[in-house]
Amino acid sequence: MPSSVKPRTAHAAAHSSKKTALPRKLSRSVLALGLGAALMGLTACAPDEPQDARSPEEIAEDARARLPDDPVLAEKYARSCMTCHGDPMNGAPLSGDVKAWAKRLEWRGKEGLLQSTLNGFGAMPPLGLCPDCSVEDFKKLIAFLANQPQPDAGS
Ligand code: HEC
Repeated sequence: MPSSVKPRTAHAAAHSSKKTALPRKLSRSVLALGLGAALMGLTACAPDEPQDARSPEEIAEDARARLPDDPVLAEKYARSCMTCHGDPMNGAPLSGDVKAWAKRLEWRGKEGLLQSTLNGFGAMPPLGLCPDCSVEDFKKLIAFLANQPQPDAGS
């Protein structure tokens, strides 16, 4: 084993980059190309896409059991949202399935998801079958379903 390995010097790096320097005009278009590619990369694969290490079976199992902490909200949730969003057979995005919810949040935003719940959406009936839920309740329930931080207002 050699007693010391010669480190790559800053001088060598500077030298080689000088050697490969492109004519100004060309290097600018290369830069533009690089930027374009970076932007395309951003839309193709958002860097902050949520990660979920659980298997689909584990996600479904968790969805069947998870409840909001607030007991009043939990009671409303258990007799409405949970019957569909806790059961993979209903075609509803599962409770706590962050990836499934991130897509919908991106498409419609929080306000759009609230409107979908109030008016009904696809196979979901208006008010998500919770006629006594307030708008604040719905906001909290949607945040809970999507596993997002709970809204501050009114809590
Ligand atoms: C009868 C079954 C059912 C009940 C009860 C239900 N949902 Fe849904 N929900 C669905 C289905 C199915 C979808 C997916 C609809 C689609 O994408 O076509 C859905 C989708 C959603 C969406 C996404 C809408 C969008 O714009 O993408 C939100 C938000 C939502 N539900 C919230 C709730 C809340 C909050 C409750 C309880 C108050 C609730 N749901 C109760 C079946 C239900």
